[in-house]
Amino acid sequence: METILIIDDDESIRDTLEIFIGELGYKAHIAKNGRAGLELLEKIHPDLVLTDLKMPEMDGLEVLKAVKEFDDHIQVILITAYEDINSTIKAMQLGAYDYTEKPIESDRLKLTIKRALESKKLSERLSETISGDTQEYQMENSLVGKTREMKEIYKKIGMISSSKINILIQGESGTGKELVTKIIHYSGITKLHPFVPVNCTALTETLLESELFGHVKGAFTGAVRDKKGKFELAGEGTIFLDEISEISPNLQVKLLRVIQEKEFERVGGEATVPLKARIIAATNRNLSELVAEGKFREDLFYRLSVFTIDIPPLRERKEDIPVLVVHFLNKIDRLLHKRVRKIPYEVMEMLENYEWVGNVRELENTLTQAVVLAKGDVLEKENILLRKSPGQPVQSGFANFAGMSLSAVEKVHIQHVLDSLKWDKTKAAEVLGISKPTLYNKIQLYSLTESE
Ligand SMILES: Nc1ncnc2c1ncn2[C@@H]1O[C@H](COP(=O)(O)OP(=O)(O)OP(=O)(O)O)[C@@H](O)[C@H]1O
Ligand SMILES: [Mg+2]
Repeated sequence: METILIIDDDESIRDTLEIFIGELGYKAHIAKNGRAGLELLEKIHPDLVLTDLKMPEMDGLEVLKAVKEFDDHIQVILITAYEDINSTIKAMQLGAYDYTEKPIESDRLKLTIKRALESKKLSERLSETISGDTQEYQMENSLVGKTREMKEIYKKIGMISSSKINILIQGESGTGKELVTKIIHYSGITKLHPFVPVNCTALTETLLESELFGHVKGAFTGAVRDKKGKFELAGEGTIFLDEISEISPNLQVKLLRVIQEKEFERVGGEATVPLKARIIAATNRNLSELVAEGKFREDLFYRLSVFTIDIPPLRERKEDIPVLVVHFLNKIDRLLHKRVRKIPYEVMEMLENYEWVGNVRELENTLTQAVVLAKGDVLEKENILLRKSPGQPVQSGFANFAGMSLSAVEKVHIQHVLDSLKWDKTKAAEVLGISKPTLYNKIQLYSLTESE
């Protein structure tokens, strides 16, 4: 049973809350001031603290700070009065989960408590993923990492999983933006609703517009029937606008309007459709720089970035590399029915010291290739083909291709080069020293595909 600590100097509120929380099925403890509350905190280690903001001696903000210092996972909800708004904002910045205004509305409080507890469980589960036994976390899509930077991200995911505010995720290519988005979607209140990704680079402006908002028959040449757009398809779920920096100025205006008015029309249509989905946008460019350069609308930027998550490049959190390596080897072994488990010290060291311009994706691809090439259960140094510097061909590993046919080697090599360049075919053709049409032919010949 979850435990909730109530701290309030007003006896009648304290008693009412104690009964209310008991009725909701949680274990309630009460304290009549901050100091008594903190003493109790250490004894009972509650899941949630519900504290009044204004109290003599030690106020709610000090309680909040002390609780968070004691255990960051404990959620704190503040009971505030309307005129406390400045302290309330401060409290939210200090990591309070939410606040509830007096007079307390029981339905709202009930929901807030429920969500706070769910969010606590989630952020705990995410933190465990990292420290716990990897066997347990063979979940294909778990987020791995134990650095402070990653923990900060788990915390943020916990904070927003129970609300629907718009989120902007920034990070270099391959840092895990899509994975984080999916985790937010599938672990939060949107999980039973659709997850709808849209790649904003892939289409022309007209097509992207109709892709997003749908169209009615005859809206433009080729619109032969009514079609729902992604915003509509996302329903109450999540629409993931990947590579948001790439949308045209024109569409930026339209998107802004949709976000502001929370409704839109299909292209060529009259009827308005309400917007209920949460928007998560991602970019591997620095959006505020684009704003400064006048290439991205500032107002749209603010609307999209109500909450931001910045994922640092892998080279800035190298301590995550060992856990990622173990995680990926497990995943790849299962996928390829191999048993590559042993990681020699020097190999791990080499992986830790590499720059990983392509971030986690490059690490995963490099390991996949090494597992493909592995003969036994050891991750061998010779099978790890690293680029010396961005854009450079991979180290020649021909000694290890013994036993492979020339075309098999060619296939592996082209795949690796493409993957490490994020499927930039122009660059890949350059690196490989072949023409683009030849590269296209080889991609077809070997049925190469971009890994997800
Ligand atoms: N912290 C992590 N733990 C486990 N796997 C991860 C982590 N970060 C990234 N990955 C994996 O790395 C690969 C790349 O991640 P993802 O596609 O989410 O990156 P991205 O930031 O969207 O890249 P791009 O900008 O190129 O689209 C995926 O296979 C993903 O599962
Ligand atoms: Mg992506």
